[in-house]
Amino acid sequence: MTDPKPQPRTFHVKSFGCQMNVYDGERMAELLADRGMTAAAEGLDADLVVLNTCHIRERAAEKVYSDIGRLRREDGSRPMIAVAGCVAQAEGQEITRRTKAVDIVVGPQAYHNLPGLIDDVVAGRDAVDTDMPAASKFDVLPGRTRRSSPTSFLTVQEGCDKFCTYCVVPYTRGAEVSRSWSAILDEARALVDGGAREITLLGQNVNAWEGEDEAGRRQGLDGLIRALDRLPDLARIRYTTSHPNDMADGLIAAHGEVEKLMPFLHLPVQAGSDRILKAMNRSHSRESYLRLIERIRAARPDIALSGDFIVGFPGETEADFEETLSIVRETAYAHAFSFKYSPRPGTPAADMDGQIAPELMDERLQRLQAAISADQLAFNQATVGKRTTILLERKGRHPGQLIGKSPWLQSVHVEAADARIGDIIEVDIVSAGPNSLGGAVVARRAA
Ligand code: SAH
Ligand code: SF4
Ligand code: F3S
Repeated sequence: MTDPKPQPRTFHVKSFGCQMNVYDGERMAELLADRGMTAAAEGLDADLVVLNTCHIRERAAEKVYSDIGRLRREDGSRPMIAVAGCVAQAEGQEITRRTKAVDIVVGPQAYHNLPGLIDDVVAGRDAVDTDMPAASKFDVLPGRTRRSSPTSFLTVQEGCDKFCTYCVVPYTRGAEVSRSWSAILDEARALVDGGAREITLLGQNVNAWEGEDEAGRRQGLDGLIRALDRLPDLARIRYTTSHPNDMADGLIAAHGEVEKLMPFLHLPVQAGSDRILKAMNRSHSRESYLRLIERIRAARPDIALSGDFIVGFPGETEADFEETLSIVRETAYAHAFSFKYSPRPGTPAADMDGQIAPELMDERLQRLQAAISADQLAFNQATVGKRTTILLERKGRHPGQLIGKSPWLQSVHVEAADARIGDIIEVDIVSAGPNSLGGAVVARRAA
C-alpha cells in the first residue's frame, strides 16, 4: 500500500474491453460525480484515475501495467490509481504486490464500494475489494438521472456459466445472474428521459436473461424487448452478446415481429470444426449453428450477422482451420472479430497439448481476416442504393459532416449541417467501403 493521499476532487475513468466494461465505467463515473467529484479530461489532470481493465487476452491484461507506468506527472507525483474490471478480479492483491503505484483494486461486482475504498486510501488503509456479494451493486448505485447518450448501454445480465475452455469470463464475472424486470425497465425509462434513442441491452450472455414480469409471468429476453418496444420515445433496440445455445424460439420470432429491434445479431461461433468446438466446450456444433442461422434468417431475411473467431486453439490442424474459413463463407457475415488464441492462466485450454506456434497463428489470422473483410465489403456494397434511416452519433472530420448508424450497425457518413446528434434521419446510401458507407440526406424525419 502507498502512503495516505488527500481526498481526490477530480476523476478520470478509462475503460478497456467489452461494452459491459464501458457500461460499468459510466456507472463508476456517475457514482463519483454523485459524491461531488468532477470529471477531468485527461488522466494526469485527475486526482483519481480508474483503469477499468480487461483480462480476456494476455495483451489486454498487460496493458494495465504499461498504463500505470505512464501515470506519472512531471514533478514525479502520481494520481490515486484504482484498478477495476476483470484484471482486478483475476489478480486481486497481486496487483498491489506487483506495483506500488496502485492504491485501489476493485472487482466488477464490488465497484459500488469505490467511495469507501477511496476513504480507506485517504486514511492509509488497505483498499482491495474483489468480493462477489449476493446483494447486487445495482441495488445501491445511484439512479441514472443525468443526460444519457442517444445510444445508451443497459446491462441486464452478468456472468457466464458456459465455461468455454479458453475463457476467463466465468472466473472474472462470476455465475450468470439476471437483473430484475422492474429494475431494467426503470433504468430504461430514465435513459430515454435523459435522451437515449437507442438502447443496447448488455450481458456476457445477454440472451440467457430470464425473469418475471410485473404480473409474475416467466419472461425471456424477447419479453423484455417487447416491453421496451412499448416505450414511446425509444426508437431502436439492440442486444449483445449472445450464445448460440440461448437463442430461444421467442427471441428468433421477435426479430421478425418487433419493429424497433434492429436487424443485427452478434452470434459468435469461434470455430468451424466440430473437433475444436468440442475441445472449446462450446456445446454447439457446426451444423447446429448453421441451422440456427437459417432459422434466424427465415424470421428476418435482411439481418446482418456478426461473430467472433479464435484461430490457433490448441490442436487446431490446417483441416480444422479450413472448416473455420468455410463456415465464414457459408454464413457471409456482415462483420466479425477474429483473435489469436491467448492462453489464460487457470483456464483448461492453457494446459492442453498441441499449443500452436505464433507464426502459424499469424498466418491463419491473416487468411481469416481477408475472408471476413471481403464479406464485410460485399455486405456494405449490397446496401448501396437503399433508402434507410440512420441515428446520428457523432461529428465527422469535415465541417457539417455527421456520422450515424444504419439499422445494420454500419457507420454512415453524411453532410447534414442542420441535423443534430441524436436525430434519426432518412438517407440514401450512395457509396460503400469495407468499414463505412456514404449517405445522402433525404428528408428530416418527424421524430
Ligand atoms: N460471451 C461472449 C464472448 C465474450 S469474450 C461469447 O460467448 O461469445 C469476447 C471474445 O473474445 C470471445 O467471443 C472470443 O472470441 C474471444 N476470446 C475469449 N477468450 C479468448 C482467448 N483466451 N484467446 C483469444 N480470444 C479469446
Ligand atoms: Fe467466455 Fe464462453 Fe462464456 Fe462467452 S460463453 S463469456 S466465450 S465462457
Ligand atoms: Fe474483458 Fe471482462 Fe469484458 S475480461 S471482455 S472486460 S467481461
